Amino acid sequence: MRLLFIGDVVGRAGRTVLLEEVPKLRAAWGLDCVIVNGENAAGGFGITETICGEFLNAGVDCVTLGNHAFDQREALVFIERERHLIRPINYPPGTPGCGATLIETAKAERVLVVNVMGRVFMDAMDDPFAAIEKELAACALGQACDAVVVDLHAEATSEKQAFAHFVDGRASLVVGTHTHVPTADHQILPHGTAYMSDAGMTGDYDSVIGVEKDEPIRRFTRKLPGSRMEPAGGAATLCGVAVETDATGLAVKIAPVRVGGRLSQARPDFWG
Ligand SMILES: [Fe+2]
Ligand SMILES: [Fe+2]
Repeated sequence: MRLLFIGDVVGRAGRTVLLEEVPKLRAAWGLDCVIVNGENAAGGFGITETICGEFLNAGVDCVTLGNHAFDQREALVFIERERHLIRPINYPPGTPGCGATLIETAKAERVLVVNVMGRVFMDAMDDPFAAIEKELAACALGQACDAVVVDLHAEATSEKQAFAHFVDGRASLVVGTHTHVPTADHQILPHGTAYMSDAGMTGDYDSVIGVEKDEPIRRFTRKLPGSRMEPAGGAATLCGVAVETDATGLAVKIAPVRVGGRLSQARPDFWG
């Protein structure tokens, strides 16, 4: 199966490159499943139903979230009826929406997508390790599904690496989101799980993690109340990771993806 995961889409610049590129990449690479983190899609803060619908119409199969999941309050409502939108699984019981969903591809293969949040330098959440253990027990790779993709929304690389090794051999891909910068450690772990510490954001990299520079600089240099954080509006780079799995659902190929904008470009050399 050919999978593409795309990191945090930030604001209009991120949405523009996403909507332009996803249909083209889907066709050019023969993608079976495209998953996108949309926690910063609406002006940098959360996601609206309209934006989520645009992503799904452009060829995205599943949208994941993170600590900004409910910044747009309408998400508290429409997440309940949108099966292709998930929030971190380790929110407390009673939180609207689901933390995992089973996507069926055009070839009738089943992809379990799980969104989970780390706890180091993040809001207090339920144990992500216990949460993934429970989910994988309920929907095991090779038995109840043909691929498992985990969006690990976390700050600390140590937590991300420990988590990835914890599920190595039980997931097709564990990919980090939240730090908004792509890492160069994409690899297939010893037991067959593809891993990358952070997919990077899909946004304008002439910024501070996707935000117009002036306000973050001001907040670091002056401890005074200021103006709103606004997403940077220059040409965005679509960032993510491309993975191919075999019949077992484990990964056989992995490559970083960087398309458009100011970062050096990267595309898998193993598809078309
Ligand atoms: Fe983010
Ligand atoms: Fe985040």
